[in-house]
Amino acid sequence: MFNIILFGPPGSGKGTQSERLIATYGLKHLSTGDLLRSEIANRTALGLEAKNIMDRGQLVPDEVVVGMISTALDNNPQAKGFLFDGFPRTVAQSEALDKLLRLKNTEIGVVLALEVSEEELVHRLLNRGLTSGRSDDSHEPVIRARITEYRSKTTVVAEYYSQFNKVVKVRGEGTVDEIFTSLCNEINKRLS
Ligand code: AP5
Ligand code: MG
Repeated sequence: MFNIILFGPPGSGKGTQSERLIATYGLKHLSTGDLLRSEIANRTALGLEAKNIMDRGQLVPDEVVVGMISTALDNNPQAKGFLFDGFPRTVAQSEALDKLLRLKNTEIGVVLALEVSEEELVHRLLNRGLTSGRSDDSHEPVIRARITEYRSKTTVVAEYYSQFNKVVKVRGEGTVDEIFTSLCNEINKRLS
């Protein structure tokens, strides 16, 4: 089993690159943002609670996302590996994930950290907001709040995994193809 965390700020290309990576490596894609948006679309109690928080650009409580990931891991016993996108976002989530993976006799193979300037992030997200229907993309103050939340609570996740030498920084600007090639190079080094 080879498990990857695709790490990076809002708009850095995690979802875009995840689609290609799962197709190439046969991994199961686990995006907590997508899981939460599906709860909202299904009007579940969890979704209704999460929506207010997401619309403000803040993080939903750790126990909510850890619970969703725990269920998803249990529901996919045959997976060749998992690609985590948008999770973990706090040190508490990282510790919880490590524990869950240990119970399944596996671990994180690599944390690929996409690096993109703040101006490029805001530009990409405002652009997507024109068509995505994602309420957290439509207003610049909410986009900035998501980036602030990332800086204050999520950048420490990279420090957490650095102590185990698992983090590789990858330039997240350029064409989608160029970035995909860089990511594959890093994964292939670790698979061989
Ligand atoms: P989430 O859904 O995870 O959103 P995010 O991290 O804010 O990031 P995005 O999905 O907006 O961006 P991305 O990095 O996937 O980039 P994408 O490929 O789409 O989280 C949403 C909310 O849910 C959070 O704010 C929080 O409230 C909650 N949440 C989720 N997980 C949580 C957790 N673990 N704990 C607590 N709360 C959680 O690309 C963005 C745009 O750029 C697209 O339009 C794309 O076409 C374009 N693009 C991609 N690559 C390029 C390129 N190379 N050049 C130009 N444009 C590009
Ligand atoms: Mg995404």
